[in-house]
Amino acid sequence: MKIVVGQVVRGSDFWARDDEIEDIWDAIESGCHLILTAPRRVGKTSIMHKILDEPKPNYIPIYVDTESADTENEFWQKLFHALLDEDFVKSLKTSAKLFINQLSKIRISKISTSGVEFSDGDTLDYKQAFKKLIKDLDSDQKLIIMIDEFAQTIENIINYETPKNAISLLKSHRELRQDTNFSDKVTIIYAGSIGLESVVAKIHSSKHINDLNRIKISPLSKNEAAQFVAQLFSGANVVATTNDIDYLLEKIEWLIPFYIQLITQEIKKLYRKSSMVDLMLIDQAINNALDNRNHFESWFSKLKTGLDKQDYLFAKGILNQMSEQYSLDSLTIFDIATKHKLEADDAKEVLRSLIYDGYINNNDSVKEYRFNSPILRMWWNKNVAN
Ligand SMILES: Nc1ncnc2c1ncn2[C@@H]1O[C@H](COP(=O)(O)OP(=O)(O)OP(=O)(O)O)[C@@H](O)[C@H]1O
Ligand SMILES: [Mg+2]
Repeated sequence: MKIVVGQVVRGSDFWARDDEIEDIWDAIESGCHLILTAPRRVGKTSIMHKILDEPKPNYIPIYVDTESADTENEFWQKLFHALLDEDFVKSLKTSAKLFINQLSKIRISKISTSGVEFSDGDTLDYKQAFKKLIKDLDSDQKLIIMIDEFAQTIENIINYETPKNAISLLKSHRELRQDTNFSDKVTIIYAGSIGLESVVAKIHSSKHINDLNRIKISPLSKNEAAQFVAQLFSGANVVATTNDIDYLLEKIEWLIPFYIQLITQEIKKLYRKSSMVDLMLIDQAINNALDNRNHFESWFSKLKTGLDKQDYLFAKGILNQMSEQYSLDSLTIFDIATKHKLEADDAKEVLRSLIYDGYINNNDSVKEYRFNSPILRMWWNKNVAN
Protein backbone atom coordinates (compact mmCIF):
# COMPACT_ATOMS: atom_id res chain seq x y z
CA MET A 1 0.00 0.00 0.00
CA LYS A 2 1.43 3.35 -1.13
CA ILE A 3 0.92 6.71 0.53
CA VAL A 4 -1.43 8.74 -1.67
CA VAL A 5 -2.31 12.29 -0.69
CA GLY A 6 -5.11 14.06 -2.47
CA GLN A 7 -5.86 11.99 -5.55
CA VAL A 8 -8.48 9.29 -5.80
CA VAL A 9 -7.21 6.09 -4.23
CA ARG A 10 -7.61 2.89 -6.25
CA GLY A 11 -6.57 -0.75 -6.30
CA SER A 12 -4.16 -1.90 -3.61
CA ASP A 13 -3.83 1.67 -2.29
CA PHE A 14 -7.49 1.69 -1.25
CA TRP A 15 -7.94 0.97 2.44
CA ALA A 16 -10.92 -1.33 2.80
CA ARG A 17 -14.19 0.39 3.56
CA ASP A 18 -16.08 -2.86 3.68
CA ASP A 19 -19.02 -1.70 5.79
CA GLU A 20 -19.72 1.35 3.65
CA ILE A 21 -19.33 -0.61 0.40
CA GLU A 22 -21.70 -3.27 1.68
CA ASP A 23 -24.24 -0.63 2.76
CA ILE A 24 -24.06 0.85 -0.72
CA TRP A 25 -24.58 -2.51 -2.46
CA ASP A 26 -27.47 -3.36 -0.14
CA ALA A 27 -29.16 -0.08 -1.05
CA ILE A 28 -28.51 -0.58 -4.78
CA GLU A 29 -29.88 -4.11 -4.66
CA SER A 30 -33.01 -2.97 -2.90
CA GLY A 31 -33.67 -0.56 -5.76
CA CYS A 32 -32.86 2.70 -3.99
CA HIS A 33 -31.20 5.78 -5.38
CA LEU A 34 -28.64 7.08 -2.97
CA ILE A 35 -26.58 9.93 -1.72
CA LEU A 36 -23.22 9.54 -0.02
CA THR A 37 -23.05 12.05 2.75
CA ALA A 38 -19.78 12.94 4.35
CA PRO A 39 -17.72 16.04 4.89
CA ARG A 40 -14.96 17.02 2.53
CA ARG A 41 -12.05 14.60 2.07
CA VAL A 42 -13.59 11.66 3.92
CA GLY A 43 -13.17 9.38 0.90
CA LYS A 44 -16.40 9.51 -1.15
CA THR A 45 -14.83 9.66 -4.59
CA SER A 46 -12.48 6.79 -3.78
CA ILE A 47 -15.42 4.68 -2.60
CA MET A 48 -17.23 5.41 -5.87
CA HIS A 49 -14.16 4.25 -7.78
CA LYS A 50 -14.13 1.05 -5.78
CA ILE A 51 -17.69 0.41 -7.02
CA LEU A 52 -16.53 1.33 -10.51
CA ASP A 53 -13.53 -1.02 -10.41
CA GLU A 54 -15.25 -3.97 -8.73
CA PRO A 55 -18.93 -4.06 -9.67
CA LYS A 56 -21.16 -6.98 -8.74
CA PRO A 57 -22.26 -9.17 -11.64
CA ASN A 58 -25.01 -7.69 -13.84
CA TYR A 59 -24.30 -4.11 -12.83
CA ILE A 60 -22.63 -1.57 -15.07
CA PRO A 61 -21.21 1.34 -13.13
CA ILE A 62 -20.32 4.66 -14.64
CA TYR A 63 -18.73 7.64 -12.94
CA VAL A 64 -19.19 11.25 -13.96
CA ASP A 65 -17.91 14.39 -12.28
CA THR A 66 -20.18 17.32 -13.11
CA GLU A 67 -18.35 20.02 -11.14
CA SER A 68 -17.62 22.09 -14.25
CA ALA A 69 -21.25 22.14 -15.43
CA ASP A 70 -22.62 25.64 -14.93
CA THR A 71 -26.00 25.26 -16.62
CA GLU A 72 -28.78 22.71 -16.68
CA ASN A 73 -28.02 21.86 -20.29
CA GLU A 74 -24.30 21.39 -19.58
CA PHE A 75 -25.21 18.94 -16.84
CA TRP A 76 -27.30 16.75 -19.17
CA GLN A 77 -24.66 17.06 -21.86
CA LYS A 78 -21.99 15.71 -19.50
CA LEU A 79 -24.19 12.84 -18.43
CA PHE A 80 -25.11 11.95 -22.00
CA HIS A 81 -21.49 12.05 -23.13
CA ALA A 82 -20.40 9.91 -20.18
CA LEU A 83 -22.52 7.06 -21.53
CA LEU A 84 -21.09 7.44 -25.02
CA ASP A 85 -17.54 7.93 -23.82
CA GLU A 86 -15.12 5.66 -25.61
CA ASP A 87 -13.17 4.90 -22.45
CA PHE A 88 -16.37 3.90 -20.69
CA VAL A 89 -17.52 1.68 -23.53
CA LYS A 90 -14.02 0.14 -23.74
CA SER A 91 -14.00 -0.48 -20.01
CA LEU A 92 -17.14 -2.60 -20.16
CA LYS A 93 -16.35 -6.22 -19.45
CA THR A 94 -17.45 -8.94 -21.84
CA SER A 95 -20.45 -9.56 -19.61
CA ALA A 96 -21.65 -6.09 -20.59
CA LYS A 97 -21.70 -6.89 -24.32
CA LEU A 98 -25.46 -6.64 -24.37
CA PHE A 99 -25.22 -3.11 -23.15
CA ILE A 100 -22.68 -2.17 -25.85
CA ASN A 101 -24.94 -3.72 -28.49
CA GLN A 102 -27.85 -1.68 -27.32
CA LEU A 103 -25.76 1.44 -27.16
CA SER A 104 -24.56 0.99 -30.72
CA LYS A 105 -28.14 0.46 -31.92
CA ILE A 106 -28.97 3.99 -30.88
CA ARG A 107 -27.81 5.79 -33.97
CA ILE A 108 -26.73 9.33 -33.45
CA SER A 109 -26.07 11.31 -36.58
CA LYS A 110 -24.95 14.60 -35.12
CA ILE A 111 -24.07 16.07 -31.77
CA SER A 112 -24.24 19.84 -31.44
CA THR A 113 -23.82 22.09 -28.44
CA SER A 114 -27.55 22.40 -27.94
CA GLY A 115 -28.56 18.81 -28.50
CA VAL A 116 -28.42 15.61 -30.45
CA GLU A 117 -29.84 14.57 -33.80
CA PHE A 118 -30.81 10.91 -33.96
CA SER A 119 -30.73 9.07 -37.28
CA ASP A 120 -34.52 8.78 -37.26
CA GLY A 121 -34.60 12.55 -37.74
CA ASP A 122 -35.44 13.37 -34.16
CA THR A 123 -33.58 16.29 -32.67
CA LEU A 124 -33.50 16.33 -28.93
CA ASP A 125 -31.90 18.43 -26.27
CA TYR A 126 -29.43 16.66 -24.03
CA LYS A 127 -31.93 15.91 -21.29
CA GLN A 128 -34.34 14.29 -23.75
CA ALA A 129 -31.46 12.50 -25.46
CA PHE A 130 -30.30 11.07 -22.13
CA LYS A 131 -33.82 9.86 -21.37
CA LYS A 132 -34.15 8.34 -24.85
CA LEU A 133 -30.84 6.60 -24.49
CA ILE A 134 -31.89 5.03 -21.20
CA LYS A 135 -35.35 4.18 -22.53
CA ASP A 136 -33.87 2.36 -25.51
CA LEU A 137 -31.66 0.25 -23.30
CA ASP A 138 -33.40 -3.03 -22.95
CA SER A 139 -31.00 -4.95 -20.88
CA ASP A 140 -31.04 -7.31 -17.95
CA GLN A 141 -28.14 -5.39 -16.57
CA LYS A 142 -28.55 -2.36 -14.40
CA LEU A 143 -26.66 0.86 -14.81
CA ILE A 144 -25.22 2.54 -11.73
CA ILE A 145 -24.70 6.20 -12.57
CA MET A 146 -22.45 7.83 -9.99
CA ILE A 147 -22.65 11.60 -10.16
CA ASP A 148 -19.89 13.30 -8.23
CA GLU A 149 -19.94 16.99 -7.26
CA PHE A 150 -23.67 17.20 -7.94
CA ALA A 151 -24.17 19.80 -5.20
CA GLN A 152 -21.46 21.94 -6.78
CA THR A 153 -23.34 21.74 -10.09
CA ILE A 154 -26.53 22.89 -8.36
CA GLU A 155 -24.64 25.74 -6.73
CA ASN A 156 -23.08 26.72 -10.09
CA ILE A 157 -26.50 26.76 -11.72
CA ILE A 158 -27.89 28.92 -8.90
CA ASN A 159 -25.01 31.36 -9.35
CA TYR A 160 -24.40 31.36 -13.10
CA GLU A 161 -27.85 30.51 -14.48
CA THR A 162 -30.85 30.99 -12.17
CA PRO A 163 -32.19 29.32 -9.01
CA LYS A 164 -35.19 28.37 -11.17
CA ASN A 165 -32.95 26.26 -13.41
CA ALA A 166 -31.40 24.60 -10.36
CA ILE A 167 -34.86 23.69 -9.08
CA SER A 168 -35.83 22.43 -12.51
CA LEU A 169 -32.79 20.11 -12.55
CA LEU A 170 -33.62 18.81 -9.08
CA LYS A 171 -37.23 18.20 -10.14
CA SER A 172 -36.19 16.36 -13.33
CA HIS A 173 -34.00 14.08 -11.27
CA ARG A 174 -36.79 13.37 -8.86
CA GLU A 175 -39.14 12.61 -11.75
CA LEU A 176 -36.63 10.20 -13.23
CA ARG A 177 -36.11 8.44 -9.92
CA GLN A 178 -39.85 8.05 -9.53
CA ASP A 179 -40.31 6.64 -13.00
CA THR A 180 -40.31 2.87 -12.44
CA ASN A 181 -39.12 2.13 -15.98
CA PHE A 182 -36.09 4.32 -15.37
CA SER A 183 -35.46 2.96 -11.88
CA ASP A 184 -35.62 -0.61 -13.16
CA LYS A 185 -32.66 0.17 -15.38
CA VAL A 186 -30.72 2.74 -13.42
CA THR A 187 -29.55 3.49 -9.91
CA ILE A 188 -28.18 6.95 -9.30
CA ILE A 189 -25.58 7.63 -6.63
CA TYR A 190 -24.93 11.27 -5.81
CA ALA A 191 -21.94 12.62 -3.91
CA GLY A 192 -19.93 15.77 -3.58
CA SER A 193 -17.49 17.73 -1.52
CA ILE A 194 -20.15 20.22 -0.49
CA GLY A 195 -23.35 19.07 1.16
CA LEU A 196 -26.29 18.70 -1.21
CA GLU A 197 -28.68 19.12 1.72
CA SER A 198 -27.41 22.60 2.60
CA VAL A 199 -27.31 23.74 -1.04
CA VAL A 200 -30.90 22.68 -1.75
CA ALA A 201 -32.07 24.11 1.58
CA LYS A 202 -30.95 27.55 0.34
CA ILE A 203 -33.43 27.33 -2.53
CA HIS A 204 -36.12 25.73 -0.35
CA SER A 205 -35.99 22.50 -2.33
CA SER A 206 -35.23 19.87 0.28
CA LYS A 207 -38.44 18.10 -0.70
CA HIS A 208 -36.94 17.29 -4.10
CA ILE A 209 -34.24 15.08 -2.58
CA ASN A 210 -36.04 13.57 0.40
CA ASP A 211 -36.58 10.26 -1.42
CA LEU A 212 -32.83 9.56 -1.52
CA ASN A 213 -31.36 6.86 0.63
CA ARG A 214 -28.58 8.47 2.68
CA ILE A 215 -25.41 6.55 3.26
CA LYS A 216 -23.11 8.15 5.74
CA ILE A 217 -19.38 7.75 5.25
CA SER A 218 -17.74 8.07 8.64
CA PRO A 219 -14.16 8.55 9.75
CA LEU A 220 -12.23 5.36 10.57
CA SER A 221 -12.46 3.80 14.01
CA LYS A 222 -9.36 3.90 16.17
CA ASN A 223 -8.73 0.25 15.47
CA GLU A 224 -9.11 0.54 11.70
CA ALA A 225 -6.96 3.67 11.66
CA ALA A 226 -4.19 1.89 13.59
CA GLN A 227 -4.16 -0.95 11.06
CA PHE A 228 -4.27 1.50 8.16
CA VAL A 229 -1.26 3.45 9.51
CA ALA A 230 0.63 0.21 10.13
CA GLN A 231 0.13 -0.76 6.49
CA LEU A 232 1.16 2.66 5.19
CA PHE A 233 4.30 2.56 7.37
CA SER A 234 5.13 -0.92 6.22
CA GLY A 235 4.73 0.10 2.55
CA ALA A 236 7.04 3.06 3.19
CA ASN A 237 9.58 1.00 5.20
CA VAL A 238 9.03 3.13 8.28
CA VAL A 239 9.46 1.30 11.57
CA ALA A 240 7.25 2.56 14.41
CA THR A 241 5.95 1.17 17.69
CA THR A 242 2.28 0.82 18.59
CA ASN A 243 2.90 3.62 21.10
CA ASP A 244 4.00 5.92 18.29
CA ILE A 245 0.92 4.99 16.28
CA ASP A 246 -1.37 5.60 19.25
CA TYR A 247 0.20 9.01 19.79
CA LEU A 248 -0.16 9.86 16.12
CA LEU A 249 -3.85 8.92 16.10
CA GLU A 250 -4.48 10.88 19.27
CA LYS A 251 -2.99 13.93 17.59
CA ILE A 252 -4.99 13.46 14.38
CA GLU A 253 -8.15 12.76 16.41
CA TRP A 254 -10.58 13.07 13.47
CA LEU A 255 -9.52 9.87 11.78
CA ILE A 256 -10.36 10.44 8.14
CA PRO A 257 -7.99 8.62 5.77
CA PHE A 258 -6.86 11.91 4.25
CA TYR A 259 -5.22 13.32 7.40
CA ILE A 260 -3.69 9.95 8.12
CA GLN A 261 -2.13 9.90 4.63
CA LEU A 262 -0.98 13.51 4.86
CA ILE A 263 0.82 13.15 8.18
CA THR A 264 2.21 9.73 7.30
CA GLN A 265 3.76 11.28 4.21
CA GLU A 266 5.47 13.92 6.34
CA ILE A 267 6.68 11.25 8.78
CA LYS A 268 8.16 9.31 5.87
CA LYS A 269 10.11 12.39 4.74
CA LEU A 270 11.53 13.06 8.22
CA TYR A 271 12.25 9.36 8.77
CA ARG A 272 14.54 9.36 5.76
CA LYS A 273 16.94 11.58 7.72
CA SER A 274 16.49 10.31 11.26
CA SER A 275 15.72 6.60 10.68
CA MET A 276 13.58 6.48 13.80
CA VAL A 277 10.11 7.58 14.79
CA ASP A 278 9.54 9.28 18.13
CA LEU A 279 6.95 11.64 19.52
CA MET A 280 8.97 14.71 18.58
CA LEU A 281 9.22 13.56 15.00
CA ILE A 282 5.44 13.05 14.89
CA ASP A 283 4.87 16.59 16.21
CA GLN A 284 7.29 17.92 13.63
CA ALA A 285 5.52 15.99 10.85
CA ILE A 286 2.18 17.52 11.85
CA ASN A 287 3.72 20.99 11.81
CA ASN A 288 5.24 20.39 8.40
CA ALA A 289 1.91 19.12 7.06
CA LEU A 290 0.37 22.52 7.79
CA ASP A 291 2.57 24.05 5.07
CA ASN A 292 0.59 22.16 2.38
CA ARG A 293 -1.63 25.12 1.78
CA ASN A 294 -3.34 23.53 -1.22
CA HIS A 295 -4.67 20.72 0.97
CA PHE A 296 -6.38 23.08 3.41
CA GLU A 297 -7.23 26.12 1.37
CA SER A 298 -10.54 24.70 0.09
CA TRP A 299 -11.93 24.60 3.65
CA PHE A 300 -11.58 28.36 3.65
CA SER A 301 -12.41 29.16 0.03
CA LYS A 302 -15.55 27.01 -0.13
CA LEU A 303 -16.89 28.85 2.88
CA LYS A 304 -16.33 32.11 1.07
CA THR A 305 -17.97 31.01 -2.17
CA GLY A 306 -20.77 28.96 -0.60
CA LEU A 307 -22.17 31.46 1.90
CA ASP A 308 -23.72 34.92 1.65
CA LYS A 309 -21.42 37.71 2.82
CA GLN A 310 -23.00 38.06 6.27
CA ASP A 311 -23.16 34.31 6.86
CA TYR A 312 -19.57 33.98 5.70
CA LEU A 313 -18.31 36.69 8.07
CA PHE A 314 -20.20 35.04 10.93
CA ALA A 315 -18.80 31.59 10.10
CA LYS A 316 -15.29 32.98 9.81
CA GLY A 317 -15.75 34.84 13.10
CA ILE A 318 -16.73 31.64 14.91
CA LEU A 319 -13.94 29.57 13.41
CA ASN A 320 -11.31 32.23 14.08
CA GLN A 321 -12.24 32.45 17.74
CA MET A 322 -12.64 28.68 18.05
CA SER A 323 -9.17 28.17 16.60
CA GLU A 324 -7.78 30.31 19.47
CA GLN A 325 -9.89 28.95 22.30
CA TYR A 326 -10.33 25.30 21.16
CA SER A 327 -14.04 25.38 21.96
CA LEU A 328 -16.86 27.91 22.02
CA ASP A 329 -20.16 27.77 23.89
CA SER A 330 -23.44 28.62 22.19
CA LEU A 331 -23.80 31.93 24.07
CA THR A 332 -20.52 33.21 22.66
CA ILE A 333 -21.54 31.96 19.22
CA PHE A 334 -24.81 33.86 19.34
CA ASP A 335 -22.95 36.98 20.53
CA ILE A 336 -20.86 36.71 17.38
CA ALA A 337 -24.08 36.32 15.36
CA THR A 338 -25.50 39.51 16.90
CA LYS A 339 -22.29 41.34 16.08
CA HIS A 340 -22.82 40.35 12.46
CA LYS A 341 -26.52 41.34 12.60
CA LEU A 342 -27.69 37.80 12.01
CA GLU A 343 -31.07 36.46 13.17
CA ALA A 344 -30.87 33.46 15.52
CA ASP A 345 -32.46 31.16 12.91
CA ASP A 346 -29.98 32.18 10.22
CA ALA A 347 -27.12 31.71 12.67
CA LYS A 348 -28.40 28.23 13.50
CA GLU A 349 -28.54 27.37 9.80
CA VAL A 350 -24.89 28.42 9.34
CA LEU A 351 -23.92 26.42 12.41
CA ARG A 352 -25.73 23.38 11.02
CA SER A 353 -23.93 23.65 7.71
CA LEU A 354 -20.55 23.95 9.48
CA ILE A 355 -21.37 20.72 11.32
CA TYR A 356 -22.69 19.02 8.23
CA ASP A 357 -19.69 20.02 6.13
CA GLY A 358 -17.32 18.61 8.74
CA TYR A 359 -15.79 21.76 10.24
CA ILE A 360 -17.08 21.48 13.79
CA ASN A 361 -19.09 19.29 16.16
CA ASN A 362 -20.87 19.52 19.49
CA ASN A 363 -20.67 15.80 20.25
CA ASP A 364 -19.27 16.12 23.78
CA SER A 365 -21.83 18.65 24.96
CA VAL A 366 -24.74 20.17 23.02
CA LYS A 367 -23.78 23.71 23.92
CA GLU A 368 -20.06 23.38 23.28
CA TYR A 369 -18.62 23.48 19.76
CA ARG A 370 -15.13 22.58 18.59
CA PHE A 371 -13.21 21.77 15.42
CA ASN A 372 -13.51 18.15 14.26
CA SER A 373 -9.90 18.13 13.31
CA PRO A 374 -7.14 19.59 15.47
CA ILE A 375 -5.00 19.67 12.32
CA LEU A 376 -7.50 21.94 10.56
CA ARG A 377 -7.79 24.01 13.76
CA MET A 378 -4.03 24.58 13.77
CA TRP A 379 -4.02 25.45 10.07
CA TRP A 380 -6.94 27.82 10.49
CA ASN A 381 -5.34 29.53 13.44
CA LYS A 382 -2.05 30.03 11.62
CA ASN A 383 -3.39 30.98 8.19
CA VAL A 384 -6.85 32.48 8.57
CA ALA A 385 -7.23 33.76 12.12
CA ASN A 386 -3.78 35.35 12.32
N1 LIG B 1 -10.18 4.19 1.26
C1 LIG B 1 -9.10 4.97 1.30
N2 LIG B 1 -7.87 4.41 1.42
C2 LIG B 1 -6.77 5.18 1.47
N3 LIG B 1 -6.79 6.52 1.42
C3 LIG B 1 -7.97 7.14 1.30
C4 LIG B 1 -9.18 6.39 1.21
N4 LIG B 1 -10.20 7.26 1.08
C5 LIG B 1 -9.66 8.49 1.08
N5 LIG B 1 -8.32 8.44 1.21
C6 LIG B 1 -7.41 9.62 1.32
O1 LIG B 1 -8.21 10.78 1.30
C7 LIG B 1 -7.96 11.55 0.10
C8 LIG B 1 -9.28 12.07 -0.41
O2 LIG B 1 -10.08 11.00 -0.88
P1 LIG B 1 -11.33 11.24 -1.82
O3 LIG B 1 -10.97 12.17 -2.92
O4 LIG B 1 -11.87 9.92 -2.15
O5 LIG B 1 -12.29 11.99 -0.78
P2 LIG B 1 -13.61 12.81 -1.07
O6 LIG B 1 -14.49 12.61 0.11
O7 LIG B 1 -14.15 12.50 -2.40
O8 LIG B 1 -13.01 14.30 -1.05
P3 LIG B 1 -13.75 15.63 -1.58
O9 LIG B 1 -14.77 15.93 -0.55
O10 LIG B 1 -12.65 16.67 -1.58
O11 LIG B 1 -14.32 15.35 -2.92
C9 LIG B 1 -7.23 10.59 -0.83
O12 LIG B 1 -6.33 11.27 -1.68
C10 LIG B 1 -6.45 9.74 0.17
O13 LIG B 1 -5.32 10.44 0.62
MG1 LIG C 1 -14.60 13.74 -4.01
